[in-house]
Amino acid sequence: MKQADPYLTLTINGETVRLKEVSPTTTLLEYLRNSGRIGTKEGCGDGDCGACTIALIASGSDGKPHYQAMNSCLIPLGSVAGREVVTVEGLSQGQLHPVQVAMVETGGSQCGYCTPGFVMSMFAAYYDRTLKDACVEGNLCRCTGYLAIRRAAQMIAEDQPSDRFSERLEHTNSNLSEISYGVSYNGNAQHFYRPTQLQKVLQILQQSSNATLIAGGTDLGLEISYHRREFPVMVSLEAVTELQALEETPDFVKIGSAVTLSQIEDNLRGVFPSLDEMLYWFAARQVRNRATLGGNLGTASPIADLPPVLLSLDAELNIASLAGERTLPLVDFFKGYRQTDLQPGEVIVSVKIPKHQGAHRFSQSYKVGKRGTDDISIVSAAFTIDLDDDRRILQARLAYGGVAATPARAIAIEAFLVGKIWDFATVRQAKLLLREAFTPLSDLRGSADYRNRLVANLFEKFFVEFSPNEVKS
Ligand SMILES: Cc1cc2nc3c(=O)[nH]c(=O)nc-3n(C[C@H](O)[C@H](O)[C@H](O)COP(=O)(O)OP(=O)(O)OC[C@H]3O[C@@H](n4cnc5c(N)ncnc54)[C@H](O)[C@@H]3O)c2cc1C
Ligand code: FES
Ligand code: FES
Repeated sequence: MKQADPYLTLTINGETVRLKEVSPTTTLLEYLRNSGRIGTKEGCGDGDCGACTIALIASGSDGKPHYQAMNSCLIPLGSVAGREVVTVEGLSQGQLHPVQVAMVETGGSQCGYCTPGFVMSMFAAYYDRTLKDACVEGNLCRCTGYLAIRRAAQMIAEDQPSDRFSERLEHTNSNLSEISYGVSYNGNAQHFYRPTQLQKVLQILQQSSNATLIAGGTDLGLEISYHRREFPVMVSLEAVTELQALEETPDFVKIGSAVTLSQIEDNLRGVFPSLDEMLYWFAARQVRNRATLGGNLGTASPIADLPPVLLSLDAELNIASLAGERTLPLVDFFKGYRQTDLQPGEVIVSVKIPKHQGAHRFSQSYKVGKRGTDDISIVSAAFTIDLDDDRRILQARLAYGGVAATPARAIAIEAFLVGKIWDFATVRQAKLLLREAFTPLSDLRGSADYRNRLVANLFEKFFVEFSPNEVKS
């Protein structure tokens, strides 16, 4: 690892900014506002409102540079070292940007507090030609109402952008280089590493017992912005080549732990329906542009949405340390509330999901939250059922989030189902058992009884969607 650099360099609206003596865990939003770039607003400070949205040039699902909307309140400055940021101040040059013109013409802004965030989400979508409702799913407006904002998006959705911003994308290299930034901040030494090789990550972990891995930072970002937690040594996984790989063969899919959810969404669409469905409801665009699969597993949150899907598909993890690599079925990974089987010095490298070869597989996932997108689950569930030609259940996987200290499979009910006919009588019996399968907590999102009912009723919903009539022999 090269020697620590005392400068942290990034580009904001085309201008190179060299920062010294800043904490690498200062959020990008804090920095922007403290440096006078107050167009970017702070609403919630935890990724929920989109007021702080900026566009970052980053590799898209096709490996090419794209403007990507992100929440600047969740991004530590270290994560944007060497990168290009566009804020709302950078859009107009003498005349308003077409997105701004559209917002003005449709009356898409009243108090204007949310407006810079909407504009930046639409700006990113404008250059991707994906201007539709989904591009602003992570932006809240409390006074204009969404109709005018939708009209603004519709007004320019067919534009073929050709301007200084599209030109900039042509001439930008979004590959990330190695970073080693060190600072003494408020009397405490802080170090932000961004290695490009896995071996270097493992070496840093061995040398620094207090090192924290950061991928997209959408979970850790809350610790930084909300809980003001200090991280003396951070190791970013964003540039590590081995963790970025996405491989699909006839037998399996292997997803690098640092592949973002947006990339998974785009590149694996249609391969695993339950994964498609869960990603659709996962957070919002700004979060999915940064969040990774490794981070979703690394949080070990009982309400993380992807573990149930992966458990229902019998995924396994590839884990590395300086001692070598090991493979672990995901079902053995979660050990307790926010605890995993990861040992000090270990990193999740990839997740392997086997593809099913047989004829009769039904697989789907469900998420129940208070609101559609950008909400965490009350209960999430993912089911996979394999049948023989006579509709007899060969294998069942019923996995849930939000009902135990960890994401969990209903293993006893899976065993009960094997050998039974996939019909309503079987499902009715399974539902009775499922009502008793877990002992969830009651909290402000839902009571234990409600959760137990969801555990059973979601399975029935799955049966109704994939009824025996659909089995083709
Ligand atoms: C507004 C908002 C909405 C959200 N909505 C959802 C949602 O709908 N569903 C959901 O499940 N989650 C949601 N989250 C939580 C979060 O976005 C996800 O858990 C995300 O997948 C975390 O990925 P990350 O790359 O950002 O992780 P990070 O924050 O970078 O890391 C999370 C943890 O994993 C560890 N880690 C990261 N990568 C590795 C690795 N390769 N090996 C070992 N450890 C690793 C880190 O050290 C850290 O402890 C939301 C968060 C926000 C802010
Ligand atoms: S301030 Fe609300 S998402 Fe960042
Ligand atoms: S214009 Fe006021 S919150 Fe959207």
